Amino acid sequence: MHILFACPHHDPDAWVPLLQAAMPGCRISVWNPEGPPSGAQAALVWRPPAELFAHETGLHTLFNLGAGVDALLKMPEIPPHVRIVRLEDAGMAVQMAEYALYALLRVARDFEAFDQAQARQHWDTRDGTRQADWPVGVLGLGQVGARVAAVLADFGYPVAGWARTPREIPGVEVYAGREALPDFLARTRFLINVLPLTPDTQDILNRDTLSRLLPGAHLVNVGRGEHLVEEDLVAMLEEGEIAGATLDVFRTEPLPADHPFWRDPRVHVTPHIAARTLRDESIAQIAGKVAALMRGEAITGVVERGRGY
Ligand code: GLV
Repeated sequence: MHILFACPHHDPDAWVPLLQAAMPGCRISVWNPEGPPSGAQAALVWRPPAELFAHETGLHTLFNLGAGVDALLKMPEIPPHVRIVRLEDAGMAVQMAEYALYALLRVARDFEAFDQAQARQHWDTRDGTRQADWPVGVLGLGQVGARVAAVLADFGYPVAGWARTPREIPGVEVYAGREALPDFLARTRFLINVLPLTPDTQDILNRDTLSRLLPGAHLVNVGRGEHLVEEDLVAMLEEGEIAGATLDVFRTEPLPADHPFWRDPRVHVTPHIAARTLRDESIAQIAGKVAALMRGEAITGVVERGRGY
């Protein structure tokens, strides 16, 4: 198979030798928009330019170098017969679990208050906190969400998850389907969004849904910026309806310098780093799938376009 590397934001010199070593039976080349079409059948992509698809018309498989495929599904230039394959976990789920656990412990164990007390050299003997006061809700129970939910449940927090369809995760109470969303929100104080972005989930974090959370709620968004109606959160923080937020993704990235999230002490901003694409793990996973395809076998992680992930 001839595979093109078409990721303008990644350094090909860091990727291509490793890809070639992992797939010695394939030809790996870097997409050259100035040259003639390469004739490649597959491409590794992350935010590819639209011209790729008019130029490289032989492509039948795209390996996305990320879990979220929303950007690709918004590109009408990708012909319908082209198979899109997303990264499945590939070391991202544990990073998301670390991020969620850090955000939860910082809030639920009052670490911010202790930091402030230290700045005043104050020995703050406040009352201890109880895990029971921090029911966690995880929106989205795919590979990443299931891992996040399982890790936090293992730490002893009451954890529920919400997904489109029912599933079993030990120690996690699962709410399935749109009609179960209000009950899921009503028992949740610490809400973590790891949903894929689809037309159904866009804007799902809004005044109506967030106002159903328990008092003193904290929102973590590690899904996509378009899940959150940012003006609603800004207003609800101001009104005291939501106590705080830890946000890794934004409607505009980088977050514009004048955005109110930068300056609100109740909001913790990170620059879309909750789960980075790990090169070795991603290459090993893609190489395994390429080998399976070359043997004529089915692979997992193929995006269902109608479903949106
Ligand atoms: C990162 O945002 C990803 O989709 O993997």
